[in-house]
Amino acid sequence: MQHLTIVDHPLVQHKLSIMRQKDVSTAGFRRLLREISLLLAYEVTRELELTMMRIETPLTEMDAPTLEGKKLALISILRAGNGLLDGILELIPGARVGFVGLYRDPETLKPVEYYCKVPKELDARMTIVVDPMLATGNSSVAAIDMLKERGAKNLRFLCLLAAPEGVERMRQAHPDVPIFTASLDERLDDHGYIVPGLGDAGDRMFGTK
Ligand code: URA
Repeated sequence: MQHLTIVDHPLVQHKLSIMRQKDVSTAGFRRLLREISLLLAYEVTRELELTMMRIETPLTEMDAPTLEGKKLALISILRAGNGLLDGILELIPGARVGFVGLYRDPETLKPVEYYCKVPKELDARMTIVVDPMLATGNSSVAAIDMLKERGAKNLRFLCLLAAPEGVERMRQAHPDVPIFTASLDERLDDHGYIVPGLGDAGDRMFGTK
């Protein structure tokens, strides 16, 4: 599978263009993020394995495809990851859910773990890590390090926007983890914001500043 997939479906691109606009309300931003996450989830789960199950329709019996294996795991990187998580859970209500919390050490500027609670048996689950913004890649790389330490093997990373710097950092640290995004933007600015971007995703979805 390729390392970077840009989900260029017209509905995704249209909704993203509205979300980028600075005057979209908190409620509007949240609703669009939920809608877009359903469409992104469709793409990121394309490789889930199927098995045949014998079922009975009103007319006859048949072998019908159903999802195989353990339920997948969704891991939200706090706090902005929760905006993507909510929509995906509507599509895959049986998914197991985990949370990873990281903060940036003001001296070393490195991500430090403050919370990690993840489902059991990650080694047997497709594990999808969600965070809307892949900027420097530092927190994504750290979160995936933590998940691999806890057994995850079959990982995907799902974001709304990616910066080339973050994609490269992920490619070097975790070349086995495919990235799915709605857009590869131009660059990071001096404060680590994605340009043109959409601003601070957490602030925009929760109405904080
Ligand atoms: N996090 C955000 O919320 N926005 C950016 O542009 C970069 C990181």
